[in-house]
Amino acid sequence: MSTIATTPDVSSSQEKNLFESVKLGPITLSNRIVMAPLTRSRALEGDVPCESAITYYTQRASAGLIIAEASQISPQGKGYVFTPGIYNEAQITAWKRITDAVHAKGGHIFLQLWHVGRISHPSIQLNGALPVGPSAIRPEGKSYTLDGFVDMVTPRALETEEMPGLVEQYRLAAINALAAGFDGVEIHAANGYLLDQFLRDKTNQRTDGYGGSIENRARLLLEVTEAVTSVWGGDRVGLRLSPLSKFGDIADSNPEALFTYVVKALNRFKLVYLHVIEGDTGGERELDGGFDLQILRRASDSLYMANNGYDKALASTSVGEKRADMIAFGRPYIANPDLVERLRSNAPLNTPDPATMYGGGDGGYIDYPALSDVS
Ligand code: PHB
Repeated sequence: MSTIATTPDVSSSQEKNLFESVKLGPITLSNRIVMAPLTRSRALEGDVPCESAITYYTQRASAGLIIAEASQISPQGKGYVFTPGIYNEAQITAWKRITDAVHAKGGHIFLQLWHVGRISHPSIQLNGALPVGPSAIRPEGKSYTLDGFVDMVTPRALETEEMPGLVEQYRLAAINALAAGFDGVEIHAANGYLLDQFLRDKTNQRTDGYGGSIENRARLLLEVTEAVTSVWGGDRVGLRLSPLSKFGDIADSNPEALFTYVVKALNRFKLVYLHVIEGDTGGERELDGGFDLQILRRASDSLYMANNGYDKALASTSVGEKRADMIAFGRPYIANPDLVERLRSNAPLNTPDPATMYGGGDGGYIDYPALSDVS
């Protein structure tokens, strides 16, 4: 009797991995497809999430994990009109209705904790205050205000004495997120916002203990992570980085050394995942002067969540080859509430309408059809 050697069907076994469950600390996710945090700019007066956000997020509850949109930890942390907050009772109440509804559908939802730092404008700040940053360096670019797009301004450099207060803003926001019923939180340390501004030497030119060496530039991030994990425990906290992105007019002279140090230093907190935007945010995945981001995955003790420009083929290969544990999809989730089902069945994807990505009402927000609506 002869045996016939068969070639293993690599593609289907890899594909299976994307739809396999994964343990995220104490939670079991039903698949490895994550809804990335997406600013949709539909919050109400007082930075309170709108009513339709309940529908929007529950429509997407089949994602293994939803990471809710970046939410400012304080009025100072706000950089755009109509983004939600997580710093007062009204916001907690509104978020609780969303998390309850997502849980009722069997989903899991984290909140992304956000301070924009210098990426803001006096017209968005309390009493017309200047935005704050590590150093008084004006970002190139425009802010979206009630008067439309305006040039960004030179921020006020934070005083050393203000740093404990800043860390406290994160701790209180983490407590609020717990009260709002989230399953965990993601620390936003990406995309040229406050924590990223401290990490990188283009934006951080401080001479105190929060600037200069890599260790000093990472100090704020580590203090914030300590504060947030003191509330949640590391196994319900993720953290997002964008080591090669230029988004927010940001850069570093040695991103490989910086981010390798950061990822190793974070290991002491036993974070449940590291979320990495690969390449330029919303743009090219391969950049000149970049480095192999798998170095970070190998340096990290956490699960590795990859993001930026993934389609089903790349996601399946990455998870199948263990280059990533989970894949976060951003823009595809705007227009495809049932993205998991569509990827599973190789169904065509709806295309998002750029005109309704930021701001507006229910159009382009909760009216993208699921397959079950059209068949
Ligand atoms: C945005 O509002 O455009 C935005 C917000 C958070 C990000 C990236 C982009 O991390």
